[in-house]
This record gives sequence, structure tokens and C-alpha cells, in this order.
Amino acid sequence: MPFVHQMNPTMVLNLLTALSLLISLSSVIVVAEIPTILDGPFKPVTVPLDQSFRGQAVDLPNSDPRLLAKLEQFDPEQISVSLSFNYDSVWISWITGEFQIGDNIEPLDPNSVASIVQFGEFGKPITEEAEGYSLVYSQLYPFQGLQNYTSGIIHHVRLSGLKPNTLYQYQCGDPNLAAMSGVHYFRTMPVSGPNSYPSRIAIAGDLGLTYNTTSTVNHMAINHPELFLLVGDVSYANLYLTNGTGSSCYSCSFSDTPIHETYQPRWDYWGRYIEPLISSVPIMVIEGNHEIELQAENQTFVSYSSRFAFPSEESGSSSTFYYSFNAGGVHFLMLGAYTSYNKSGDQYRWLERDLASVDREVTPWLVATWHPPWYSTYKAHYREAECMRVEMEDLLYKYGVDLVFNGHVHAYERSNRVYNYTLDPCGPVYITVGDGGNWEKMAITHADEPGNCPEPSTTPDDFMGGFCAFNFTSGPAAGKFCWDRQPDYSAFRESSFGHGILEVKNDTHALWTWHRNQDMYNAAGDQIYIVRQPEKCLVKPQDP
Ligand SMILES: [Fe+2]
Repeated sequence: MPFVHQMNPTMVLNLLTALSLLISLSSVIVVAEIPTILDGPFKPVTVPLDQSFRGQAVDLPNSDPRLLAKLEQFDPEQISVSLSFNYDSVWISWITGEFQIGDNIEPLDPNSVASIVQFGEFGKPITEEAEGYSLVYSQLYPFQGLQNYTSGIIHHVRLSGLKPNTLYQYQCGDPNLAAMSGVHYFRTMPVSGPNSYPSRIAIAGDLGLTYNTTSTVNHMAINHPELFLLVGDVSYANLYLTNGTGSSCYSCSFSDTPIHETYQPRWDYWGRYIEPLISSVPIMVIEGNHEIELQAENQTFVSYSSRFAFPSEESGSSSTFYYSFNAGGVHFLMLGAYTSYNKSGDQYRWLERDLASVDREVTPWLVATWHPPWYSTYKAHYREAECMRVEMEDLLYKYGVDLVFNGHVHAYERSNRVYNYTLDPCGPVYITVGDGGNWEKMAITHADEPGNCPEPSTTPDDFMGGFCAFNFTSGPAAGKFCWDRQPDYSAFRESSFGHGILEVKNDTHALWTWHRNQDMYNAAGDQIYIVRQPEKCLVKPQDP
């Protein structure tokens, strides 16, 4: 050690003292273990707002090169993969032909180009072919000065007979027009069973198309998900007028018009931007309020319902607003908050049938998603979906739903296990991930802070309607509309942009990690094992 030879005895002594101090310090540093739900219920934690990260997000401009068409007329673009009900089938979707916007638009003929997918296992020749269907939709505003829109030709093709957990290659388009896409790849889900799960499921909400969205998507892609759940609020095309002018606050910037306008090309921009991810990672979407997009003849959700493929028919639903599917040993319930959720309605009856048909020996995990959260403590949208909770919570509890993911509130929050606002070791864990990075502002105030409890009559959503959020009747907030401290059911909350990754390990343990955009890719903003206790909680529901 030439370095030591140059030191005098005092320097060597100091070095040895420093080394021994370092060694004794390291002996008291314990690597923090990841907590499990069984360590809870946890004392509520609020992470203070990082003042250097204000949560401002700016939309990518319409001129951003990532949003512009690069292909010839009938070359496929906006390619995506979605799951069908089981591992043996997926949907491939894409768009051909350019959209039109203006006063004189002529919808394209969907029959002018075929909907073909050629596919096969990776490493083998492409020998299989499937044919699907195509459609165009229009967004019409019959008011002077507003421009109408008609989409390119949207194709949906269902592939079937697939092997589980197998990498496939595919090309989509119309071979007769020499208009096939390049080769893309997807991996099928593993077979459903108690020891069979996709490695990583990414979950995000309220994504939009801002520079923060690109950060969220980049972080997500580097975490290599095998499935992507988008829990509502997709393109935020409804922050724009039909002339392409947008604002982060539509109602603040634009005067009242007979109809809330949208700029549908933002959907095409979103589809082009996200294609590199979702042409290989299956995406499952559920509707949010930004997808309502009212147009002529009181039509709503037309873009959402037209652009994505849903396993509605395969899961016994007759609607794009709710459906279910299996991903290995996880059964996902994708529920609609912006359609009827009443006990007498179609969705509720479908949900009863679906839940009754779930075999927890085959799909032990039951995970539900919908857009507006029931258990959020932020001021924004506080108790807005209370009528839905009143109608549906008992049913989800009765069947032992393990986890619920929501968006809508632009922040992150994880609950303790809760049922009917009461801590319950068999209630679901509710996780809000409305922090995808959209243009609207981040939620930073909490309803339990002084002066922030909203006036109850202002809390219902106009579109959902109804008022069910009465004062609490028991517990520390009895007689009040809001708690005066972070509620016991709220375990952890933080206002930052990000996404989450769910890694189901076996039939009782799943690791949940929330990743913040301002952190390194593999850093965790929140991490916990969700633990199922079927022997304690899974009481077989009685037949009616
Ligand atoms: Fe929303």
C-alpha cells in the first residue's frame, strides 16, 4: 500500500479510527424490510409536497414530431394489443387512412381496406392469419363555427388458439394493398392457476399527453411490464376546442358554448405517441370522465368505445363500459363508473354473474378497477363516487376483492384494508394512481385540512348525478362530512406523478411498488406486500 507508506503515524491512527467508526456504524444499519399489509393497519402518513416539483405538466404541442403521421395512406398506425378473456386470445387494433377535421368531411369507407393479422410463434415462420372488422366514427358538433371530425379506419382483429406465456410475432394490415405493418411482438399471459402469474403489471391513470406523461411512460417501459392497465382518462382531447386551441383548465379559458368541444386529433396523437409501448405490451382501458365527449344526438364515449378493443363479449358483458378478464391467476374486474351501477341495472347483474363464476382455486386474486375512487382523502373529487360505493361495495366485499385501483384524483394514495369507511382485515386495499401526468393540475390539498372540507352539495359529479355522501355516523368523524386529520383508512398519500407495478408472487403475496417520475427508474416511492388471507376472509358466498 504505497499510500500508507507516505503517511505519518498520526495519520495512520486517524485513518484506523475512521475505519473502525465506519465499521461500527455499518453494523447498526439494517436493510429496511418491505412491509406487508399484515403489519398494518398503518398510522396514516402524508408525504409533504416536494416544493421543487410543482406538478406542472405541459401538453406536447400538436406539432411535436412524435404525434405526426409518418406513413402512407393505408399503412397501419396506432397499433395496439389488448387481451381477450383468457391467455389463448388477444386483440390487435390499428388505424389506416387519415382522419379529417373541418366543415366538409366525408367519412372513409371501412370496406376499402381489409383487417388482417398474420402471426406465429417467435422464431417460427408466420403461418397463421386472422381477419377482423373495421369501423369509422365521427365526432359531430352541429353548431356554427365548430369543426366536425371523422376518424381513420379503425381495425380490430381477434387472434385465438394461442399458447400461454409464449412470445408471438405479428404483422397487421391489408396484404392485397401491400400495406402491412412491420413485425411486432407480444407475449401471451400465463395459464390461469394459483402458481402462475405475469411478472409485472403496470398500472396508471389520468395519463394525458404531456411531457410528464412521457416521463411516466418512459419509467414504465424501463420496468418492462407484461400488461398495462390504464384506469381512465386517456388523451384529454376534451381540453381543446375544435380549432386545436387547448388549455390546462377548459372551463377557466373558454366561454360557455352549447356543447363542450373536443379536438379529436389529440386521440390520434396519443395513439401514435404510445404505439411503441402498446404494440407489444397489452393495454386494458376502462373509461374515465374525460372520455365522455358529448356530441350530436347526445352520443357519448364514442372515441373510447371505437378505438380500443375490449373483451366485453368474451366476458359476458354487452358493453364497452365494463368487462372482465384473466391474467394468469388474477381475475380483473373492469367496472364502469359512468354508466348505471345500480343494483337493478345491467352492469350490476353482469357483475353478480361474473363474480359467481370466478373459481378462486384457479384465479385466487380478485382485482377491481374503475375510474373515480371511493376512498380518496384529497379535496379534489372528495366522495364524488359515493352513490357507486353505496350500490356496489357490499358485493365486492362479499366476494373478497383483494385490491382496487382507481384514477381521477391526480395524486397517489394507498388505503389500509377498509370496508364501509371502517378498518376491516378482509376489506380491499384501495390504491389511487391518478398521477399519470396529464395537463390538469395535480391534487395537493386534502379534505381533512382546515378550511378544505368541501360543501357536501358540491361534491357529486354532474354526469354521474345523485347525492349519497352523508355525514359519517360513527367513528372519529361522526356527525361530520370530513375528518379533521388524515383518516384512519388512508395509509399513505403523496402528490407526485408516477405509475405503479404489481408483481404477484403466489396465491397469497403480491408486491406493489409505486414509482415517482422524479426518481431513478427502479426507486420506490411506496412499496408493500399485499397479503391475501383466504382462510380468514374467503367465506363462500351463499347462493341466493
Ligand atoms: Fe377523471
